[in-house]
Amino acid sequence: MRTYLVTGGAGFIGSNYIHYMFEKYGDEIFIINVDKLTYAGSLANLRGVEGCPNYRFYQADICDSAAIRTVFKEHRIDRVVHFAAESHVDRSIKDPEVFVRTNVLGTLVLLNAAKEAWEQADGTYRTDRKFLHVSTDEVYGSLGDAGFYMHTYGFPANITNCSNNYGPRQHPEKLIPMIIRNALAGKQIPVYGDGRNIRDWLYVEDHVKGLDMVQEKGRLFETYNIGGHNEKTNIEIVHIVLDALRRCLPENDRRRAGICDDLITFVEDRKGHDRRYAIAPDKIREEVGWRPETDFEEGIRKTVRWYLDFSTQNVYDNKRICDSVDSCH
Ligand SMILES: NC(=O)c1ccc[n+]([C@@H]2O[C@H](COP(=O)([O-])OP(=O)(O)OC[C@H]3O[C@@H](n4cnc5c(N)ncnc54)[C@H](O)[C@@H]3O)[C@@H](O)[C@H]2O)c1
Repeated sequence: MRTYLVTGGAGFIGSNYIHYMFEKYGDEIFIINVDKLTYAGSLANLRGVEGCPNYRFYQADICDSAAIRTVFKEHRIDRVVHFAAESHVDRSIKDPEVFVRTNVLGTLVLLNAAKEAWEQADGTYRTDRKFLHVSTDEVYGSLGDAGFYMHTYGFPANITNCSNNYGPRQHPEKLIPMIIRNALAGKQIPVYGDGRNIRDWLYVEDHVKGLDMVQEKGRLFETYNIGGHNEKTNIEIVHIVLDALRRCLPENDRRRAGICDDLITFVEDRKGHDRRYAIAPDKIREEVGWRPETDFEEGIRKTVRWYLDFSTQNVYDNKRICDSVDSCH
């Protein structure tokens, strides 16, 4: 049985990955989820998985090298899939320290622990052990991240850089859940600047499928871009989500009346707001055979339906959500 160590598995993409992997492989795999449970993590994202004999949760900080080494000592880990990170750009502007700590130091702690556990006496690695760092397109234009480690040590790893994800289980501070949440509450929808910043968007299930395919078919030491061929301005996103909400809410739902374009409020732009991110996912298509499958409007409808179903459930601590969302917009 193959054992996966997933970090950040209580967050948005990590939890979707865990659900996807259990649906695909069932009891052929064992998953260990290491998550600190910051404001962004919720064990409610793992409903249906907790209690499963092939799943184990450790609440730990990836910067805590003793705790991480213990996980490697207690389990024979075959794959590391590393999602744990501080992920919200607004927060990185206000408080960069925790970003450097988790995203840089925490990644190094994990790499060192995996290297220590996996290195053979002759300094090589078994090829069935792999480390996948799930990164973002935001790192382009700045320094490369963990590339040095793979090449210096011949350490068996891949990096993926993905564009913006959307879908179930995303924290409400992020754009699409924020639009849904505010529109349902009849609250203003803040949009940075002129709303014309462009991002590429990918449905999260397509992303996690791509991650599995990179692990199965990708060449070691390679970096793969994952993207949706789906660039949209922020203001387009707002209109598409509002439209999907109007279509998904039942006729007699009184919240429908409040969902209108008047809620859109342009606010002062984010500092250093990059105008456009684009990603070219040709390499993953050619080498791995992955391509985005979910049509954007269909993905948005699925996402809206998920939030409508779950809006009554307390997936995240509501007070913390309100504090964090309001402080960001
Ligand atoms: N969301 C996107 O659109 C997107 C797109 C491409 C890439 N990514 C990247 O994928 C990764 C995961 O993103 P996400 O959207 O799922 O993030 P998220 O914020 O939803 O989840 C992050 C998870 O990591 C955990 N965590 C944070 N610090 C930790 C620490 N020190 N130790 C252990 N656990 C910790 C949190 O509790 C949370 O469960 C990030 O590296 C992000 O940059 C995200």
